[in-house]
Amino acid sequence: MIGVGDMVLLEPLNEDSFIMNLRNRFDHNEIYTYIGSVVISMNPYRSLPIYTPQKVEEYRNRNFYELSPHIYALADEAYRSLRDQDKDQCILITGESGAGKTEASKLVMSYVAAVCGKGQEVNKVKEQLLQSNPVLEAFGNAKTMRNDNSSRFGKYMDIEFDFKGDPLGGVISNYLLEKSRVCKQPRGERNFHIFYQLLSGASDDTLMKLKLDRDFSKYNYLSLDSANVNGLDDAASFRTVRNAMQIVGFMEAEVQSVLELVAAVLKLGNIEFKPESRVNGFDESRVKDKNDLKEMCELLGIEQSVLERAFSYRTVEAKMEKMSTTLNVAQAQAKTRHKVMGVLDIYGFEIFEDNSFEQFIINYCNEKLQQIFIELTLREEQEEYIREDIEWTNIEYFNNAVICDLIENNQNGILAMLDEECLRPGTVTDDTFLDKLNTICAEHQHFESRLNKNSKFLTDHSLPHSCFRIQHYAGKVLYRVEGFVDKNNDLLYRDLSQAMYKATHSLMRQLFPEGNPAKVNLKRPPTAGFQFKASVGVLMKNLQTKNPNYIRCIKPNDKKVAHIFTDSLVCHQVRYLGLVENVRVRRAGYAFRQPYESCLERYKMLCKKTWPHWRGPARDGVEVLLTDCSVPTEEFAYGRSKIFIRNPRTLFTLEERRRACLEDLATLIQKIYRGWKSRTHFLLLKKSQVVVAAWYRRYAQQNKYQKIKSATLVMQSFIRGWKARNILRQLKYEKRCKEAVTTIAAYWHGTQVRREYRKFFRANAGKKIYDFTIQRIMQKYFLGLKTTTMSPMDNSWPAKPYGFLEGAHTQLRRIFHLWRCKKYRGQFTEEKKAVYEEKLEASEIFKDKKALYPSSVSQPFKGDYLEIQKNPKYQKLNSAMEEKVLLADLVNKINRANGKGSPRLFLLTKSNFVLADQKTGQVKASVPLPDLASVSVSTQSDGFFALKLKEGSASASKGDFLLSSEHLIEIITKLHRIGTTAADRDQINIDISDEFLVQFKQDKVCVKFIQGGPKNGNSAACKRKNNRLLEVSVPSP
Ligand SMILES: Nc1ncnc2c1ncn2[C@@H]1O[C@H](COP(=O)(O)OP(=O)(O)OP(=O)(O)O)[C@@H](O)[C@H]1O
Ligand SMILES: [Mg+2]
Repeated sequence: MIGVGDMVLLEPLNEDSFIMNLRNRFDHNEIYTYIGSVVISMNPYRSLPIYTPQKVEEYRNRNFYELSPHIYALADEAYRSLRDQDKDQCILITGESGAGKTEASKLVMSYVAAVCGKGQEVNKVKEQLLQSNPVLEAFGNAKTMRNDNSSRFGKYMDIEFDFKGDPLGGVISNYLLEKSRVCKQPRGERNFHIFYQLLSGASDDTLMKLKLDRDFSKYNYLSLDSANVNGLDDAASFRTVRNAMQIVGFMEAEVQSVLELVAAVLKLGNIEFKPESRVNGFDESRVKDKNDLKEMCELLGIEQSVLERAFSYRTVEAKMEKMSTTLNVAQAQAKTRHKVMGVLDIYGFEIFEDNSFEQFIINYCNEKLQQIFIELTLREEQEEYIREDIEWTNIEYFNNAVICDLIENNQNGILAMLDEECLRPGTVTDDTFLDKLNTICAEHQHFESRLNKNSKFLTDHSLPHSCFRIQHYAGKVLYRVEGFVDKNNDLLYRDLSQAMYKATHSLMRQLFPEGNPAKVNLKRPPTAGFQFKASVGVLMKNLQTKNPNYIRCIKPNDKKVAHIFTDSLVCHQVRYLGLVENVRVRRAGYAFRQPYESCLERYKMLCKKTWPHWRGPARDGVEVLLTDCSVPTEEFAYGRSKIFIRNPRTLFTLEERRRACLEDLATLIQKIYRGWKSRTHFLLLKKSQVVVAAWYRRYAQQNKYQKIKSATLVMQSFIRGWKARNILRQLKYEKRCKEAVTTIAAYWHGTQVRREYRKFFRANAGKKIYDFTIQRIMQKYFLGLKTTTMSPMDNSWPAKPYGFLEGAHTQLRRIFHLWRCKKYRGQFTEEKKAVYEEKLEASEIFKDKKALYPSSVSQPFKGDYLEIQKNPKYQKLNSAMEEKVLLADLVNKINRANGKGSPRLFLLTKSNFVLADQKTGQVKASVPLPDLASVSVSTQSDGFFALKLKEGSASASKGDFLLSSEHLIEIITKLHRIGTTAADRDQINIDISDEFLVQFKQDKVCVKFIQGGPKNGNSAACKRKNNRLLEVSVPSP
């Protein structure tokens, strides 16, 4: 902090240190300093970067002493106690002209607008409140020697808030506009801004409508020497003002009539009068140049003659150098009670070279404000000590009540005397008024006059005769009495106001309601001074009901430039504003006080018992705290709700310790904060990571899903394709089949059809005939074959009819024969089959080998010629046979000795043959077939055969048998057949020759067959030729 932010803590406290501190801070752009809760504001005369929205946020809802001094801190404090504690507030901004009051009031309003509620309706109200300033300043501010934007009227704005602290609207009260400035401005000053703004900023079109010229020099009311002010852009300001008027709620027509009025005033200034003596001896004024008058009348809609008459007949003064002190009383207050914040920005105390009634009134007003400041500050302080049960000793300070009394006293106050003079019958002049002052106020210590009976000022040449001087709280001011009476009277002749009322211009009529003939009031209107005094009284009363907040503006130099700090000038202001006294009063009892709660809150970290929380009552906590900090007991006092600290040093010590402690705490807070921040950051990261992961997983799964999906689709499509191809193949195949079937059917049908129709075709006739012929031939041929018999013996076969059938003919013959034989064989029974087989065997053995054979072919093989089973003669023999008899016949056994035969029964079974006696049936010889070695027969047609036995066998001893039989073929065949079918025996050899040996008992005898004529019949005869030879002669065939 630069210097000391709160003067209460200034040490040592004297005027020099006070100003040094201000200067030090001012040099470092710290333009605000506190005296307790009072804000001292130094005008920087340049824009500083300390009114940004960030600053607004910084000061919002913060305690007054928490941050460096700022006007925002005061505005915030006021707004919050208004909103939270329901206390109406007023912000009193004082200081001399150019000290920055108007700027301060705007800053307060803009801060309040920024921090209070938001919303469409609320914003509109805020805008209207803020935009009222440019309009009021255009019509009420002017450049003066002291200030380029000096307020020439007093302004008090009550801003109303609802229970939440949202602005509802405002009531603006204006006090005493310096009207005389319209007609005349001191050197180096100019008229109200609006005239210059209109001429510079209005469009050509507007100016033409208003019958105005852009040239300032054409208007008497506009002083030329200082028409242009550095840093003021009148044209831009005009646009701002027009815009602001629109926002505030002026209708377009209303703006127009206001501008017409402004133009009319400019025209009025150009009207010049010339004196004329009339016959009746009175002087009369006449309008010199009637052009301006005409234009003015056109603008306002007044008949020229009416106005001219009003000017000429009554008015004696050449120019309307008059001044009204009419006070525009505050508009009707709203009925429901709202919270109110009043902002008072009144013209500052001013001392000019030539001070008149206006300055007198302005300074009186400032005097009253100073009074209220002193009174409220002291009273509040005093009351607080009493309230808090603290001992209080009175502090000396200059009370300007005495000056106020000099001016406003009802009996002998200056204003009362002025009124008296004005109302007194007889000749009344400013001089008679001064005389009266001289007599009545002579004794007053703050009144000075040359003609005072008090000879003190008789030689004071700085005090002219026509003047009086008042020692105001802020300095001595010399007032020239000239014009006091007139200005106080503020009379506008009735015929003038009536003439104005006749105007068709509606605004004009509203401005002169007294001109209405229906409301003629013969009573004298109250004087300007009286009205002003009354309204100031009302204002003061109003302010006293509210909680005051002071902003004391100080002007650092007279040159309106930045960076210059004129010590003497500041010292003068500090002195008359009583700022040092203010600090003293504040420090007299106890320099510093604070509610227990906030004190404990601020310093609780200095004591372990109170840190971080004190559970008991705050007062006990503070006691514990201060004792713990070993603050001397005389240094503080316990009030009811506050702790009072006597010496700023004590506070400093506490602050110092607090600061040291705060560093530790800051580290702790930093530590915890960093921990918290890292943790939060970490949690955020973690959360984000989870979110990212979730999203990524989703994304990945989506991708995977998409892949699977597309893969599935591919597979599906392949499978579908494959299936489809299969089906297609199938269908194609079926189609082909169908086509083939159709084709075949078509061909078949075609063939059918062709076949059916072929016969109808001549081309086929040859073949058909051929076929037919062939068919007929074949038919005939086959039918011809029918003549052949089914006998296998039948060898006949028709001759072949055609050479081409030769192969078929022989084949058919063979096939037919085979088939015929097969058929024939098929008829055979088993026995017959056996018979034929025997026959076949006989044929195989004897055919073409023995002459006897052919004769045997036709003889069936009977086998049992003896009927051995039936014939009882052979019953005995039959029973002697162990096996079935296959052949039984009667044979001749050839005797070796004579060649004669003796009959014997020959029986053949499967295993042996038996020779039995023909008569007795006695078995002569039974030879087992295995003993039979061979059978010998001749080639002749004889019936001899020899059964040769195997040499060495049991039967061989009897010798071979030479037998003859009529059934030779059958016997031999059967013998042979048995040999063939028996598996255990060798086949019996059959020798067919005409000479063979037969073994009779001892000898071998040769049997020889010869052909010769049979002598004894047809049968062959055997004859013994010698021992060794038997000759058989066989008849020749
Ligand atoms: N806080 C500020 N920051 C920047 N410039 C400022 C500030 N306050 C005042 N000024 C400058 O000082 C000039 C005069 O201020 P302002 O009009 O507020 O004086 P005033 O006290 O209202 O005077 P008067 O009594 O004549 O109306 C302003 O036009 C502006 O240029
Ligand atoms: Mg101002």
